[in-house]
Amino acid sequence: NTRVLTGITTSGTPHLGNYAGAIRPSIQASALPGVDAFYFMADYHALIKCDDPQRIARSRLEIAATWIAAGLDPERVTFYRQSDIPEIPELCWMLTCVTAKGLMNRAHAYKASVDQNVAREAEPDDGITMGLFSYPVLMAADILLFNANKVPVGRDQIQHLEMTRDIAQRFNHLYGKGTDIFVLPDVQIDDEVATLPGLDGRKMSKSYDNTIPLFEGGSKALRAAVMRIVTDSREPGEPKDAEGAHLYTLYRAFATPDETATFRAQLEAGMGWGDAKQALYERIEQDLGPMRDQYAELMARPERIEDILQAGAAKARRLSEPFMARLREAVGLRSSM
Ligand code: TYM
Repeated sequence: NTRVLTGITTSGTPHLGNYAGAIRPSIQASALPGVDAFYFMADYHALIKCDDPQRIARSRLEIAATWIAAGLDPERVTFYRQSDIPEIPELCWMLTCVTAKGLMNRAHAYKASVDQNVAREAEPDDGITMGLFSYPVLMAADILLFNANKVPVGRDQIQHLEMTRDIAQRFNHLYGKGTDIFVLPDVQIDDEVATLPGLDGRKMSKSYDNTIPLFEGGSKALRAAVMRIVTDSREPGEPKDAEGAHLYTLYRAFATPDETATFRAQLEAGMGWGDAKQALYERIEQDLGPMRDQYAELMARPERIEDILQAGAAKARRLSEPFMARLREAVGLRSSM
């Protein structure tokens, strides 16, 4: 069987980028025959960017409810909270000990923080924690502990997957004695989505405050956000440059190729941006509307979600516990002698 695994950091409200980049493809993958799916709430990762405990708890609930409302079947998928799996931080330490510091120096998120500091003439590492610096190692532990073959993510995670492969190879080389302990995972990226733009055209991201929420605030909030998408100043009647408009990119991420072609022709024939936004809103709502009630029901019953996550953790640990025993032995922490 193919193992598919992915996680979402519990530091904010799920947005269209999370949905199109990770949630939708992961649910499609989990429905295929011969797939064992592992999906989780990355709450240890959340501690890196967020020191507000209530926000982390709220986000976990929102992400779990979103995943289930979007069609995840907890009976079929191993669905869990990262911090319920103590083998993850344990493996993270083992991997930290074989990961070259130079590899982490090259991580985009770390480098971007350094660049920002340099730009404002602060110390390069000002405000950068070891958590941020080692972020990719924790992600490698998530993936390697379950020997995932495929990881559905948005394009922003490609480098993390490359680093995971590097770290796995190093560990296999040091401790594998000719057999591979870890599977080298492949990234799975939907080219139609890859990086979903936000309101301002930059990558849709919590950190840019340019996100369109999936369910929070209901269809009203969705429509209001869509109406705030930045467009150029071309008037109704003037032909629009579809390829150059991130509104079009957003439409394409939700529509069929036929619908997208029609939308494009309408834009090029001079459809006004107001009408284009209304069409985009309606197309997204067509997909999300039917899921929203279940989302609201789940949000009202946190104890039900907790039960699901506990059951998921127990299922995950049936694999991670024996595998960790093998890893401890491989590195010399326990001995079979
Ligand atoms: P996170 O929480 O930032 O994002 C969750 C998923 O959503 C995708 N995504 C996007 N895709 C397309 N367009 C966008 N604008 C967009 N914004 C976010 C992300 O690519 C991601 O797939 N480190 C990860 C979480 C994680 C993880 C893992 C993922 C922890 N361990 C192991 C896979 C495997 C993160 O912070 O994603």
